[in-house]
Amino acid sequence: MQNYNVSFGNKEIIFVVEQFGSPLWFYDFEVIKKRIGDLRSFDIVRYAQKAAPNVNLLSRMRHLGLAVDAVSAGEIVRALKAGFAPSQIKYTADIFDKEALVLVKEHSIPVNIGSSDMLAQLHEAGIEVPLTIRVNPGFGHGHSQKVNTGGEFSKHGVWHGELEVLAQNAERLGFTIECLHTHIGSGSDFAHLSRVVSAMEGLVPAACKNLNTISVGGGLPVSYKRGKQNNMNLGKYYDMWDNARKRISESIGHNIQLEVEPGRYLVAESCVLAAEIRAVKKMGKNLFYLVDAGFTDLIRPAFYGAYHHISIISRTNKELGKEVDAIVAGPLCESGDVFTQEEGGTVVSRKLPLAQVGDLLVIHDAGAYGSTMSSNYNSRLLAPEILWENETFIPIRKRQTFEQMLENELAFC
Ligand SMILES: Cc1ncc(COP(=O)(O)O)c(C=O)c1O
Repeated sequence: MQNYNVSFGNKEIIFVVEQFGSPLWFYDFEVIKKRIGDLRSFDIVRYAQKAAPNVNLLSRMRHLGLAVDAVSAGEIVRALKAGFAPSQIKYTADIFDKEALVLVKEHSIPVNIGSSDMLAQLHEAGIEVPLTIRVNPGFGHGHSQKVNTGGEFSKHGVWHGELEVLAQNAERLGFTIECLHTHIGSGSDFAHLSRVVSAMEGLVPAACKNLNTISVGGGLPVSYKRGKQNNMNLGKYYDMWDNARKRISESIGHNIQLEVEPGRYLVAESCVLAAEIRAVKKMGKNLFYLVDAGFTDLIRPAFYGAYHHISIISRTNKELGKEVDAIVAGPLCESGDVFTQEEGGTVVSRKLPLAQVGDLLVIHDAGAYGSTMSSNYNSRLLAPEILWENETFIPIRKRQTFEQMLENELAFC
């Protein structure tokens, strides 16, 4: 499978930082378009917006024909603001909070239920919407244990052995189960994802005759390490599901649509986090580059031990120095604020050019679970997001201000 690198280069990154300050998120929409194109064989591509929910990205994806997943009331609001029709949105969760239930009712948003309590609450609220059931097939897999969403230790979905009873209850209450859904984890691999096919085929008889769609979930991997090929053969993956779809369609007597629900796959490679080196210092034998972005911006290395390719851009037009071993860390008052660490928190160094204060440090493939997982910890402001589209710089989110950060507290001073 092809890797799509961003089409902007160092010149554009320097320019955008000079215009909008650092740190910032810089997206290339062309990469997202190409990734969407890779999945065109599926009947429905439902974007799991949790990966990068900027409303300006969502509206562009809507124009390209995508449907959208929403895992919270806030994500429903984002999808509506981006212009999605309620029927193009699906609320996927294991609980309803009050706000979500109100929005589902008000807009008749289709729901993907992950617990029998959700069914009861829909019924109590007098809501009649098409139903999907998310099934935990009894196994899961992801790039980290923290993103494995299947098996007995996962909170997600309806346990496969309980599907039949839930489906019967739903029918008895007058709901139509249109879709069966599984999502075993994020950043999985071909071997694990392919196990879902036979699990899904085994589940269909327990659901009901009104199924019109099966959703294969997300989890499609991307390769974060340069030069490392993604082990995912998308053509083979699609064929496997398409064959299953044909068998299922035949067994229930009508045609079934195939839905895929990617998050990471569409956006990961589309974005870099650009930061500035603000200190270069030695700790014994270790060299540290301290930058003005921290895990309050990109939490993946600290939270999952995730690897991101890092490059450096000289701001002085000088050639970058020879390669050295450097540890890249952020500004937070928190020792885990290190971008070069492995799962479990082991700090490691990276071969990087010898750099100096003022040079830019670029963290690549930061589009998925990047900006969206940012926080105000240490009272750091959320960074701006800029889109590179048709060779122009388009701001899609301003830098947060101190006033915005403090607004709800100052209201009581
Ligand atoms: C229900 C559901 N669908 C889709 C996704 C997207 O996963 P990924 O970003 O790995 O494609 C997730 C994320 O874990 C999810 O929980």
